[in-house]
Amino acid sequence: MPPVPGHIAIVMDGNGRWATRRGLTRAQGHAAGEKALMRVVEGAVEIGIRHLTVFAFSTENWCRPATEVGFLMTLMRRALRKHRQRLHAEAVRICHLGRRTGLPPALISEMEAAERLTAGNDRLILTICLDYGGRTELVDAARSIAEAAAAGTLDPATLDARTFARHLYAPDLPDVDLFIRTSGEQRISNFLLWQCAYAELVFVDTPWPDFDRHHLRQAVEVYATRNRTYGTVEDPGRSPEQSAPRRQPCTSTTEP
Ligand code: IPE
Ligand code: IPE
Ligand code: MG
Repeated sequence: MPPVPGHIAIVMDGNGRWATRRGLTRAQGHAAGEKALMRVVEGAVEIGIRHLTVFAFSTENWCRPATEVGFLMTLMRRALRKHRQRLHAEAVRICHLGRRTGLPPALISEMEAAERLTAGNDRLILTICLDYGGRTELVDAARSIAEAAAAGTLDPATLDARTFARHLYAPDLPDVDLFIRTSGEQRISNFLLWQCAYAELVFVDTPWPDFDRHHLRQAVEVYATRNRTYGTVEDPGRSPEQSAPRRQPCTSTTEP
């Protein structure tokens, strides 16, 4: 059976362009993006994906016009309220990744309600990145490590990748296996910089509002063709079983 990625991360890009091409407003594009997310979550459950992490709002997205930012905050708050029971019924766990301090309190409380409701689920862990930036996450981790060192609870000499990862926002979030970005741009845009160290990157031209379970399946099929070597080389002296693709790099920061 071809390998199924344990962790898929998606940059849900292209809502605005999708809408503009149709003579719609960017807000309508974002609303269509919400529907796409629900389809893709269903698709991920069908495929048997364990972790799906989606980029919903970046630390850089605050620089968009206030009306668009305000619309997105309201859309996300309503979407959490609207979909959480359905996701709960499908045993999906909802988690937030990012800073909470800058988000509207009403959005935080909807997120916390969704997290509480679905806390016991483990069929699919849906991590929603909201006010998330990879650099900010790394800076916050560095600050937390520096504070621990200053307090004498962490010896800087013992700091390694695994200890560092314990200071990330979600220490148990595994490395990303498959990174998907929709809508044609081929960049990471500050998404999961640490966790994507060895992710397989798949860029698709389909704008996010048109992305569905078939596109997800296609990306998983592309992933299955990739040869993940993690910096090693194939050893001709090894048995086929021994030289089976590694599941993670030898410097992995999460348990196998
Ligand atoms: C992604 O779509 C959604 C968010 C970043 C919130 P965009 O809004 O970036 O759409 P484009 O890239 O302008 O088409
Ligand atoms: C990345 O998309 C952020 C999200 C999808 C939430 P952007 O559209 O904001 O990123 P850039 O501007 O193309 O790098
Ligand atoms: Mg964009």
